[in-house]
Amino acid sequence: MSFDRDAVLLLAEKYESFYLYDGRTIAENIAVLQGNFEGVRFLYSVKANPHPAVLRCIIDEGVGVDAASLREVTMGKENGLAAGDIYYSAPGKSPRDINAALGCSTIIADSPAEVERIQAIAEGHGITADIGIRLNPDFSFDGEGGSASKFGIDEEEAFRLLPQWKGYKNVRIRGIHVHSRSQELRGELIAAYYGRMFELAVRFQNALGHELRFVNMGSGIGIPYAEQDAPVDIKALGASMSALIRQYRPQLPRTEILVESGRFIVGKAGVYATHVMDKKVSHGRTFVLLANTLGGFVRPSVAQMVESYTREEKPAGCEPLYTGRNAFGFVPLTEDRDTETVTVTGSLCTGADVIAQDILLPRLECGDVFVITNAGSYAASVSPMQFASLEPPAQIFLPEFGEPSAL
Ligand SMILES: Cc1ncc(COP(=O)(O)O)c(C=O)c1O
Repeated sequence: MSFDRDAVLLLAEKYESFYLYDGRTIAENIAVLQGNFEGVRFLYSVKANPHPAVLRCIIDEGVGVDAASLREVTMGKENGLAAGDIYYSAPGKSPRDINAALGCSTIIADSPAEVERIQAIAEGHGITADIGIRLNPDFSFDGEGGSASKFGIDEEEAFRLLPQWKGYKNVRIRGIHVHSRSQELRGELIAAYYGRMFELAVRFQNALGHELRFVNMGSGIGIPYAEQDAPVDIKALGASMSALIRQYRPQLPRTEILVESGRFIVGKAGVYATHVMDKKVSHGRTFVLLANTLGGFVRPSVAQMVESYTREEKPAGCEPLYTGRNAFGFVPLTEDRDTETVTVTGSLCTGADVIAQDILLPRLECGDVFVITNAGSYAASVSPMQFASLEPPAQIFLPEFGEPSAL
């Protein structure tokens, strides 16, 4: 993964540990999606990286918001987005969440009880809310049958309840949402999933009795983390989507097709940089201690933990905390050094703060800068920064033009 080495070294003079997000890469990633998926609107999954400048840059490219909380709805609103551009989909919303999100987002109901709650709250306001239904379909991403899930409403139950929902005065069902999987690299599997989604949308629309305004296919598009990962063929996937849109246009003439993405947009647009704080030898093993690893960027430590508890050659991913082996590049910014085998840890008071064991790296010394790649998504946003009250890493956005801005 390429990154601006000079910018990292310059910033490292000021910050002990920091994320650097590259606006140009983000814009390029969005252009790849938008350029290959004609007739599709993309939504950014803010939870991947809610940094204000990152979000601003993404919204400026015409991407809408997939909000997983009321706060993320508000972030979309503060960036000038209308209710039709912010899709609020999360399990377990509170009445307060629903109350505040009504009118400034499209709420996706996640359970039958939530449909009732939205109806009651909208009635209290004397309004009719345009909502979506998150479905737990009778098919999986792989094409097998459906399974139990905390997300959404089982397809069968939703079809059974539709006649009742249609009678409600204060909710109008405008669309459906499904998200079955993240980080899929097999484009043909994603395309087959899109096909099943179109088929479901038509069946749902027929049962609903009026045209769907939107079908939100969720995410799925993965990124290569390990060196041997082959990226999704976005061109071929976009062509499959276009063919499906053409095929289903007669039945869904004005329905907006939405696809969500977090990691594809930002995952490879960020690096984490920290410093070597100490180095020691214990019982013949050399330890390099970095500033703020587990607390600042938790995923490499989680990877070590997962892999130490399994004998599997390829432990199953558990997104967004664990993706797979070798999901991060470790890049010491040192010049012309010999190599040595080291264990790389952080400075937290826990033995779990290890990011690599017995790896061969250029010899590191105190004060050296150490970069970890693939740090743009589910990085700062999932890290336990209050642990031990360490100073959180800075988060710096490097715009395509202009000066970096720090958070
Ligand atoms: C409902 C929903 N949509 C979209 C995403 C974003 O996934 P990704 O970052 O892999 O694109 C997630 C991730 O967990 C999700 O739960």
